[in-house]
Amino acid sequence: MDKFYVTTPIYYVNDKPHIGHAYTTVLADVLARFHRSLDIPTFFLTGTDEHGQKVEKAAKLRNEDPQKHCDETVERFKELWVKLGITNDYFIRTTNSDHKKVVQEVLQELYDRGEIYKGDFTGHYCVGCEKFLTEKDLVDGKCPDCNREVTQIVESNYFFKMSKYQDWLIDYIETHPNFIQPSFRANETLGFLRKGLKDLCISRHKSRLSWGIELPFDKDYVCYVWFDALINYISGVGYKKDAEMFAKYWPASKHLIGKDILTTHTVYWPTMLKAMNVEMPETIFAHGWWLTGREKMSKSLGNVINPMDMIEKCGVDAFRYFLLAEMSPGNDASFTEETFTARYNSDLANDLGNFFSRIQKMTLRSFDGIIPEAVAVGEDEAELIEVTRNGRTLMEKALAEMKLDAGINAVMDIVRAGNRYLEKTAPWTLAKKGEIDKLKTVLYTSCNAIYHVSVLLSAVMPEKMAELQKNLGVAVCDKISTLDVDKNVVANSKMADCGGLFPRIVEEKVEAKAEKPKEVEVNVASLVTIDEFFKTQLKTAKILQAEKVEGADKLLKLQIQVGEETRQLVAGIALYYKPEEIIGKNIVIVANLVPAKIRGIESQGMLLAAKIGKELKLITTDGEIASGASVG
Ligand code: ME8
Ligand code: MG
Repeated sequence: MDKFYVTTPIYYVNDKPHIGHAYTTVLADVLARFHRSLDIPTFFLTGTDEHGQKVEKAAKLRNEDPQKHCDETVERFKELWVKLGITNDYFIRTTNSDHKKVVQEVLQELYDRGEIYKGDFTGHYCVGCEKFLTEKDLVDGKCPDCNREVTQIVESNYFFKMSKYQDWLIDYIETHPNFIQPSFRANETLGFLRKGLKDLCISRHKSRLSWGIELPFDKDYVCYVWFDALINYISGVGYKKDAEMFAKYWPASKHLIGKDILTTHTVYWPTMLKAMNVEMPETIFAHGWWLTGREKMSKSLGNVINPMDMIEKCGVDAFRYFLLAEMSPGNDASFTEETFTARYNSDLANDLGNFFSRIQKMTLRSFDGIIPEAVAVGEDEAELIEVTRNGRTLMEKALAEMKLDAGINAVMDIVRAGNRYLEKTAPWTLAKKGEIDKLKTVLYTSCNAIYHVSVLLSAVMPEKMAELQKNLGVAVCDKISTLDVDKNVVANSKMADCGGLFPRIVEEKVEAKAEKPKEVEVNVASLVTIDEFFKTQLKTAKILQAEKVEGADKLLKLQIQVGEETRQLVAGIALYYKPEEIIGKNIVIVANLVPAKIRGIESQGMLLAAKIGKELKLITTDGEIASGASVG
């Protein structure tokens, strides 16, 4: 890779930034930091979308000049990005004169070449809301906002000849599988295109909207806000201004967007570029929604999570970590205090925080904080060294596939292997028994592992990982490209005595109430989208052991194999199956259910069964298949 150019949407300057905006920007930041850490020249662009009706209206309400209104509101985004440690190389505002100039040049050029023409626009107009509406917008033929009658109007407007690119775009998407990611989004766009593409109205008459970029060939009109906004991706890297810079960074490596703005980015933008004779971006990646519980986060529902509050509460890095570890880009994810606390405590406080503090205490106690060299590396060390070695490869793979959650998980595997290693080798006993050589090997191997972890997670948690490295006594380093498990970086450096890295969040709530296991019944009363469905991870599992739960005649306690791991599950099937009958069965479970305690016994998942009347049957596979296989 010779360069990496990543963008976020430019956000509506009017809106108050929330966790959705924070997510896309943190995701872009992490990608940018990773690529820099691999020594790849990187450019990271974000900014604000400042023209259009909403801004004009908001400014009017405040009796303020729209430009001044933007100058004030843009600060909310800028402040948040500083707080979140965002390392964008440029912040573009569509009211910048440089950007406006590029938009006008593009418009003129396309007009001169006949790509833009004047035609009649037929539509509806709501006088009350002063708003243009299309047929699609209307609800029962009326304005969706005020429910008043609309008037049909015919008005001259300018159109971009988008329709002529329909076949070209279909072919381009079909022959470039990386162009729209994840691939199911490409199918969505193809579906849209096959319904037929119309020309795009790209002007608004000034009598209705004046807050926009004036059309260079007709002073009575301003440019449609999306046409203006999309151009930021090229005006932000020197298009028509700095040829050298433009050649260096364009085409964009990744346009990150939310799935809400798929059509504008995968239909309008490519056809605009095609008409301009500009190369296509490599990938447009649409991620899913952040929900609160099961609902979409939205202002009207009053469930919007303010990133500033979260940072205040838990620190920037834990917030960044949560955003990236919790969402598989492409799918939706849920942000609640509970999910946040659960992940923070398990990953950061228990796994990572503990691993570090155990090593630190032992090194301080036995070697005055000087990290020893390994004496003899043997069988005990093999697993930990191997996962440490693999960390970098797996992280790079995860980056290439845009599966950062998987990359983070691979790094946390190092941490978990590290904790297992400490349990197995028990350095505290080695110290007592005077087995100093072995103790040295254990501490060196652990320190080397956690050093790798700190470099690999630097892009995600830059401050905390730098702090960890300072505590190890090594130079602060975020460069994945320098990692080599066989190279000694840690031995002989002096460890500092610090407090914990990630103090546990103490839950204020009482233990979650035990829930009765539910049987799954087929119910098509409400429809779900494919995204919603795939939030539930169904997996095959093999029942290894089963026994009755004492004092509960309906419950069986099962030990099941799910791929590499063994899990315990409590199921309400004792009236239907005897324990010995079901051992060895290949069943289907919900693998990502929040663990629950049932009669004091932890249950990690839920099995699927079909029930009708008094009959219940486990859902099993049609013959043998490895456990841990995904079902879908
Ligand atoms: O659409 N979950 O700006 P916008 C995840 N100005 N991401 C979310 C989200 C949520 N609940 N809510 C918002 C615009 N986002 C245009 C873009 S680009 C040329 C012009 C993120 O302020 C996500 O990235 O409405 C989404 O696409 C973007 O914010 C929309 O921001
Ligand atoms: Mg929006």
